Amino acid sequence: MTELAGGLPRSVDCATCPAIGPGFYRLAQEGSGRFAPGVLRRIDATPVPSPEEVDEAKRSTLKLALIGGVLALGGAGVASFLRFAVPPPAGAASYPKVQLLYDDGTPVLASKYRHPSTSTDLIVFNYPLDNEPNLLLNLPSAAPGGVGPSQSLIAFSAVCQHLGCAPPFISYYPPGACGSFNGGQAFIHCVCHGSTFNPAVQAPGGGAAILTGPTQAPLPQVLLFWDPSTDELFAVGATGPAVKGHSSTLVGGNVVASPVQTQAPQSPTQQCPV
Ligand code: FES
Repeated sequence: MTELAGGLPRSVDCATCPAIGPGFYRLAQEGSGRFAPGVLRRIDATPVPSPEEVDEAKRSTLKLALIGGVLALGGAGVASFLRFAVPPPAGAASYPKVQLLYDDGTPVLASKYRHPSTSTDLIVFNYPLDNEPNLLLNLPSAAPGGVGPSQSLIAFSAVCQHLGCAPPFISYYPPGACGSFNGGQAFIHCVCHGSTFNPAVQAPGGGAAILTGPTQAPLPQVLLFWDPSTDELFAVGATGPAVKGHSSTLVGGNVVASPVQTQAPQSPTQQCPV
């Protein structure tokens, strides 16, 4: 047998091909497994996959493509299902003018509305959205934004600006209800964590001023309109921060039907602030 420089064989039986080391020179098997004398082939060092290995690789690629397709289709299906199952938050483009009625359907008349100047009864109505309850108050004297014959009818959100507690946990306390708290004047108190608001004082930017925390925001106010010719009362807007939990008072629920009924008076959960 002749040899190349470096001792490489010029022709060998490939069944006994030697590992030649760095540089990846080796003799390839071909046909009978023999090369003609004097032929030296340079081939890639990567092992040649067997036909079985090629088929398995193809199968794996197809499986991955299939799974990917199913996942993509499934994702699109879930997305479109959610689009219909969870509609985007509804809302109102602007504040509607909505007349207030009692729960029996008769109009709220400003000169007759005595609740709750001396009562803790909760009279609540939703406005402008059906998941935004408000307290309808008749304070002992004129208040900022108050309407009616004495400019004392006023309304505030019944959703606490701290963490969103709603009636019966947030409610109106008439004058003297808790001794000298707030100088003996009326206030609104949320018993969940103790926030209190002064319905007779408007905060900068609107809403009932904070008396005590932990709330960091005043209580949003609903703007009322009183028609002196009929004595009827309407909700027409809002001022102050957005209702707690909503990015805007106009977004996050459905617009109330017009006219809107107040809810039957209910007893609040009350305790005096400490
Ligand atoms: Fe009203 Fe915390 S939710 S004080």
